[in-house]
Amino acid sequence: MEFDNENHSAKLLRAQIHIFNQTFGFINSMSLKCAMDLCIPDIINKYGQPMPLSQLIASLPIHPSKTSFIYRLMRILTHNGFFSQHNVIENELEVSYALTDTSRLLLKDHPFSMAPLSQVILDPILINPWLQFSTWFTNKDPTPFHTQNGMTFWDCASREPKLNHLFNDGMTYDTQLISSVVIEKCKGVFEGLESLVDVGGGTGTMAKAIAKSFPQLKCIVLDLPHVVDGLQGTENIKYVEGDMFEAIPSTDSVMLKCIMHNWSDEECLKILKRCKEAIGGKEKGKVIIVDVVIGNDEKGDSKLLDQTKLFYDMEMMVLVTGKERDEKEWAKLFFSAGFSNYKITPVLGLRSLIEVYP
Ligand SMILES: C[S@@+](CC[C@H](N)C(=O)[O-])C[C@H]1O[C@@H](n2cnc3c(N)ncnc32)[C@H](O)[C@@H]1O
Repeated sequence: MEFDNENHSAKLLRAQIHIFNQTFGFINSMSLKCAMDLCIPDIINKYGQPMPLSQLIASLPIHPSKTSFIYRLMRILTHNGFFSQHNVIENELEVSYALTDTSRLLLKDHPFSMAPLSQVILDPILINPWLQFSTWFTNKDPTPFHTQNGMTFWDCASREPKLNHLFNDGMTYDTQLISSVVIEKCKGVFEGLESLVDVGGGTGTMAKAIAKSFPQLKCIVLDLPHVVDGLQGTENIKYVEGDMFEAIPSTDSVMLKCIMHNWSDEECLKILKRCKEAIGGKEKGKVIIVDVVIGNDEKGDSKLLDQTKLFYDMEMMVLVTGKERDEKEWAKLFFSAGFSNYKITPVLGLRSLIEVYP
């Protein structure tokens, strides 16, 4: 193939780089997974100051034949913002690494650690369905996860204790961060409420945080039997086994955090109708949704946020029957389910808080 001019060849070479970059995108995820598996953030944190590569290598549980590869792993992780490099000198073994804000959020004892959720997203159970993506387009299965495993994600979680545990653990840390911001920035949402049912509330992280800040609120955590089995309630928190498509206990308010994006529009309509029945004619009744709203980014790094929302949307397509929605799609759901109004508060980073009124 002949190039008409230099401009043309420059464009082709740029396009080639772009394709390489997109093709190699998984290397970012797998390098991150490797760093978490080897506990690199925790090891550097324990050192207490920028850690020389030679010390890092000596602290890692690796085979002696692999020591020379750590520099290259650290180089891409540093490039991707997980570590900062100090003492950049000729002898690469004397280069030191420090944590960044991002790797601090991967520390195991950080109250909002992202490590458990990242680890479950990168576990083969959730990665393998991606290899069925194009096959799924040619068959009748509800999701690529189903094509890979012969069952839904939720059935698999109920049968595989490892997936159930990893997933609940991952959600717990995410909800610890989100609940602390909800309570700090959206206090007014809970004022005047006497009861709340956290539907699909997992192991009760959100309910515990709300009950602690609003002791007048009686909370019920409704979830599937394998999730709430054996969990001990308190005076203000009760765990109830149930199916949100069947019935939701009567209440002033319903919380749905990271629930609606797991389900199709038809399924969401069913859930919202059950919510409306649970609230009945209560004057202050409302549904409180915490979920992604596509296209309503706070000012700032909106390109990064947009990309993350699109990633989440694809993850929902591959694992479950859900999707991420823009405001129009949300509004259509609320009005179709018989609600009269809603208010979106976009203060939770990737997620927004949506109040829906009967
Ligand atoms: C993405 S998790 C969100 C958990 C929690 N709300 C949080 O954000 O930490 C979805 C939850 O919905 C629950 N779930 C799935 N199907 C359900 C059903 N039919 N009835 C009640 N809960 C269900 C799952 O067990 C899981 O705990």
